[in-house]
Amino acid sequence: MQASATTDSSSGSAVPVPLTAKIAQRIGIPREVFPNEKRVATVPEVVEKLIKLGFRVAVESGAGDLANFSDAAYRAAGAEVIDGAANLWTASDIVFKVRGPSPEEVVLMRQGGVLISFVWPAQNPELMQQLAAKNVTVLAIDALPRTLSRAQKMDALTSQAGVAGYRAVIEAANAFGRFFNGQITAAGKVPPAKVFIAGAGVAGLAAIGTAAGLGAIVRANDTRAEVADQVVSLGGEFVKVDYEEEGSGGGGYAKVMSEGFQQAQREMYAKQAKDVDIIITTALIPGKPAPKLITAEMVKSMKPGSVIVDMAAEQGGNCELTEPGKVVVKDGVTIVGYTDLVSRLSRQSSTLYATNLFRLTEELCKTKDGVIDVNMDDDAIRGLTVIIEGNITWPPPAPKPAATPPAAAAKPVAAPAAKKGGHGAESEPMAGNKLAIMFGVAAALFWLIGANAPKEFMSHFTVFVLACFVGYMVVWNVKPALHTPLMSVTNAISSIIAIGALVQISPLSDALDRPNSMITWVAGAAIVLTAINMFGGFAVTQRMLAMFRK
Ligand code: NAI
Repeated sequence: MQASATTDSSSGSAVPVPLTAKIAQRIGIPREVFPNEKRVATVPEVVEKLIKLGFRVAVESGAGDLANFSDAAYRAAGAEVIDGAANLWTASDIVFKVRGPSPEEVVLMRQGGVLISFVWPAQNPELMQQLAAKNVTVLAIDALPRTLSRAQKMDALTSQAGVAGYRAVIEAANAFGRFFNGQITAAGKVPPAKVFIAGAGVAGLAAIGTAAGLGAIVRANDTRAEVADQVVSLGGEFVKVDYEEEGSGGGGYAKVMSEGFQQAQREMYAKQAKDVDIIITTALIPGKPAPKLITAEMVKSMKPGSVIVDMAAEQGGNCELTEPGKVVVKDGVTIVGYTDLVSRLSRQSSTLYATNLFRLTEELCKTKDGVIDVNMDDDAIRGLTVIIEGNITWPPPAPKPAATPPAAAAKPVAAPAAKKGGHGAESEPMAGNKLAIMFGVAAALFWLIGANAPKEFMSHFTVFVLACFVGYMVVWNVKPALHTPLMSVTNAISSIIAIGALVQISPLSDALDRPNSMITWVAGAAIVLTAINMFGGFAVTQRMLAMFRK
């Protein structure tokens, strides 16, 4: 993707350009052509940032209309506004889109150009062939490896599903004839609405947070037990299926459950259906039809006026009676099967999507010179690059094993199997022996120090050992995502050393019989440095906490 031109064609002259100079690429934003698609791939605020990265930006006239971004706003942000899709596509080196291109759009694509959009390569083999024939490079934002924490900022699937989860609750509230929160009014007592969320992935968690925020009683279920804490932290109650089976299929996704589990789950769902007012279903296993969790019988058993929002409508629906794209009323229950929930909040979803693509562009253009470099050695970029210069590179090779050790929770499951086969059975006593030897050596060392070291040294040494222990627990026993807020607090607390410096600098400390004023200066410097540490630590913690406050 690096420009290799030796003449500057944009200036119209044949002035030789040094090999090191690069010509800024033009990013084009066409109007989405998919029916009812209201999103746009970039927004004026992000146009400015792309220009700062060195790119030129062109937007098709009217591209942002349905998301409330006018041509004038794009122009004011520094973009060129081009009339007509054909002109836009042919003028663009790189095209940002939301939906994958239609066959007509593929025809318009420049040979050798770059496309960044949702593509779903597994579901669209024909589109992949058409794009490859155009000799283009395609980055499918849906193929981003989601488990890489570095990739979170580019994760459009997450940002869009979050919007959909929020909107699902709003649709439910719109179709529901009562308040969400409980109220005591002069006219009588209103009980809070009860909401049950099936599937607590990205969309489900967003729905839990939104419904809880509106004051409803929220319950949720997922086959992956690991999400229970997240459900609770968002104000919901996790309802377990009375059947022991782990539902995680790896990579944050679920697996198809056994018949026994499904039976037990159906029983639990049947009970919930009778009790709750609103059900929002988001259950999904990638590449499989949506699991049918809500039967016609369950719908029949719900109270009149209840609502079901079936977010999985596009994959066949989690409810047997869902009609994709429609709102239907069956047995007095409104079933919302909209497949365009994200588009129904187009300004919000476009802004988040545009930011995801901007973050990706930053990764592709680290030199900030308006030229992208598709670095296939980068795990995230490799994962989402599905075609490079006409060669299909999808699916990507299996991800490299993570540097972090496997989760401790996995051990008890694996242990009995290892013992059965006889292999690895010795490894546990071995580890135990090693540990015993380590403890023995450490105890002997401590005894030696304790027996011979002076008294003052021992008190400092005890504090030192305890500090090492606490430090170890804080760093290694805490998830990496929590390191920043936690470290900022420990930083602030560790500034207790300021007290030592204050004692040294204080006139009262004359009694300490200081040898020279050097100590006063060192103590002064220590106070300044620890003050930065202390106040900085608390300030960072405050900022982190503010991100989670409403
Ligand atoms: P996700 O993969 O993050 O979450 C799906 C969750 O369902 C996972 O936590 C999984 O463990 C759980 N699950 C799978 N099988 C289950 C079962 N049998 N019982 C209980 N839980 C089960 O997916 P995400 O991004 O949250 O999307 C959820 C759904 O919403 C998908 O079907 C997606 O296509 C749909 N969606 C719909 C939109 C619309 O406009 N209608 C817009 C965006 C997403």
